[in-house]
Amino acid sequence: MVSEEISTLRWVGDAATGVLRLIDQTRLPGESIEIECRDVPTVWEAIRSLQVRGAPAIGVAAAYGAVIGARSGGPVRDALAQAAATLRTSRPTAVNLFWALDRMEAAASSAGPEIDEKDLLDRLLEEARRIEAEDRAMCRAIGRHGADLVEPGQGVLTHCNAGGLATVDYGTALAVVFAAHERGTPFRVFADETRPLLQGARLTAWELARRGIPVTLICDSMAAQVMREGKIQLVVVGADRIAANGDVANKIGTYSVALLARAHGIPFYVAAPSSTFDLSLSDGSAIPIEQRDPREITHGFGRPTAPEGIDVYNPAFDVTPANLIAGIITEKGIIQPVEAATIRRFLG
Ligand code: MRU
Repeated sequence: MVSEEISTLRWVGDAATGVLRLIDQTRLPGESIEIECRDVPTVWEAIRSLQVRGAPAIGVAAAYGAVIGARSGGPVRDALAQAAATLRTSRPTAVNLFWALDRMEAAASSAGPEIDEKDLLDRLLEEARRIEAEDRAMCRAIGRHGADLVEPGQGVLTHCNAGGLATVDYGTALAVVFAAHERGTPFRVFADETRPLLQGARLTAWELARRGIPVTLICDSMAAQVMREGKIQLVVVGADRIAANGDVANKIGTYSVALLARAHGIPFYVAAPSSTFDLSLSDGSAIPIEQRDPREITHGFGRPTAPEGIDVYNPAFDVTPANLIAGIITEKGIIQPVEAATIRRFLG
């Protein structure tokens, strides 16, 4: 919940006729507008276009999208499989998308062949609601575990948006600062604007300001200077996929921030729920990195900002190697040191 009136996302109604409502994050901070998803193509497009974004929020949106798809005609199991296959193509990097769809398909399989179609659809909605509830709980727990890292008077740098808008509620990296703020710790957040789509400026700065948390917006390229000036004592970012050895994919520019933090002796933490780990990948080299439309760079928010036809490279994520990460703040506690054995032990 990002305000009293508007949620990042919410399901309204029953399994047979309900709809998924999402705040359209591409319109923030100027306009708070909800969109309604009644079919799989609308959910797919909402994820692709970043109307809903942030790894955990994408997972929950996809779970509800699977419910919508499952009732779209024909046998529920067949329709579900088709919807899940479509939704899997919306974005490649955040593993929460695939994790949530796997859970929805597993819920259908475990229901048994004799279950009637209406009950199966109800089971699917229950599973999506469970994924949503778990996300809320995991974010609160991440906040509780991470809040002690924030000391009075510190400057905390974050990159992109890993707040309430990137989850159902409360966030991951921002859960840490929200929880520290709720405990009365005074500190200031420095938010990287996060080129090219400005999730830091549009979303993180917006979320922090409306909670009354002191925040200073900087361009991505200013982080080194701000660190050298002694304004940053802690970095906390979110994650889209974490490999078995602790390598972390997150928004493009995160790796640069981690290198800068190391150069300035500043601890660099990642905050993520267990749904963001992909233990099938031994290291970060196999994490698929989404390539996005060059126009995000050449036509930032509608206006040409580069010569017509210029060659552009636009990876949306990068991978920060585990050895630059001081700890991974999860709902189960802080994984430290960040290496395969400790990760395995924490996640069971
Ligand atoms: O492209 P986006 O806006 O979906 O990228 C989001 C991020 O990189 C977040 O830091 C990440 O998903 C963690 S969200 C809790």
